[in-house]
Amino acid sequence: MSSAPDFDPLSPAMLENPYPVYAELQAKHPVFWDEKVGAWVVTRYDDCREILMDSERFVRDPRRVSEVSTESEESVQALDRKAVSELRRLVTGSIHAQDLEQIGRSVRASIDRIFEGVASRPSFDWMIEVGARLSGTITADFLGVTEPDPQVFKTIVEGMARKFDADLAGDDPEAERRVREAFGGLIDGWLGSPQTHGTVLTLKNRAEEMGVHVGVVKNLIGLLFIGSFGTIFASSGSFAFMLMERPDVFDQLRDPRLLGSGIEEFLRFDGPSQATSRIAKRTTEVRGVTIKEGDPVFIVLGAANRDPDQFPRPQELVLDRAPNRHLSFGWGPHSCLGSLFGQLALGELARALHDAPAPLRLTGTPIRLPTTTVRSFASLPVTFQA
Ligand code: HEM
Repeated sequence: MSSAPDFDPLSPAMLENPYPVYAELQAKHPVFWDEKVGAWVVTRYDDCREILMDSERFVRDPRRVSEVSTESEESVQALDRKAVSELRRLVTGSIHAQDLEQIGRSVRASIDRIFEGVASRPSFDWMIEVGARLSGTITADFLGVTEPDPQVFKTIVEGMARKFDADLAGDDPEAERRVREAFGGLIDGWLGSPQTHGTVLTLKNRAEEMGVHVGVVKNLIGLLFIGSFGTIFASSGSFAFMLMERPDVFDQLRDPRLLGSGIEEFLRFDGPSQATSRIAKRTTEVRGVTIKEGDPVFIVLGAANRDPDQFPRPQELVLDRAPNRHLSFGWGPHSCLGSLFGQLALGELARALHDAPAPLRLTGTPIRLPTTTVRSFASLPVTFQA
């Protein structure tokens, strides 16, 4: 078994910039057991993709999934493959049934309103004023529910980000209980109130016909909420930060032909979902290393996305990179269901920043969220004032 003694995913240096360490792990320890993470850590692109694709050998890690219900038989992960793909089809169908152009316009209107409100402020926290509000609006629109307070959203997302870190975050049962209760309450409220459109309505209407238990529906809505809110929140901050740091990239993205591929490239380069995990269903091998049945595997998407064997010039932002088969939306049977919304949100943000009367600039030191699975700023102080 190879070991990598210096791997400390929550160290300030790693939170700031994990990529040099990922490159070293890829070269020297592509698959190793880490006590702190409590899992096998896998960093090479081919290995990560193989694990994500192979749901016969690797199943979702229940320690890191945003479950609302505690009864395992009600979990989405406990369903057989056929039921999962039916539910996935339902959600995908509901996403495709929505008018994306109209959603784009409503997202843009909401960004314009947010920007108007902060335009004259000498400093504001992008994560609260823009990140939480924008992701709240998009998520509520997509689910077809009323939007709760951004602070409630943020508390739940930060609690869930800790949960995704599983063993790394340490136990805080009281905090976990509070987050689970707040989350469960939110979803019960949505299920109990009438909707006119959106995914919650579709799921409510169809689940009974399909014989799917209400607990599964709750968990799926929970997954959708966390999948949507947390990632749009996190990526809005990293995207704005990158555009402030790289005025050349900011200018190049004015070209509409580069915007779509540029957003994909940003997500490859510094995406919000840095890692996910699976459990080995049976004893198996990855790159010659034996992984025993029941062992957790930590798949470092952020590392795979900079693997030189897959991406030429991996440490550079190449805005027209093609092909760009990054793993920022996962891969295979559990890949992201809402990637369209993520891309749409970042596209509208870029357009709004291009149209703003003055460039966005930093007014203080950004603070990172102390989590390794989710890469996000907790606070990003900025202004539009000169
Ligand atoms: C930039 C934005 C986004 C990023 C980077 C992202 C990333 C990811 C990744 C990496 C996974 C795979 C996790 C795994 O395999 O363990 C995933 C799954 C998922 N995402 Fe996203 N996501 C984004 C936006 C969204 C949005 C807007 C929604 C909802 C509208 C969403 C809903 C989901 C759901 C439900 C899953 C679980 C699918 C399953 O288990 O079958 N995501 N996402």
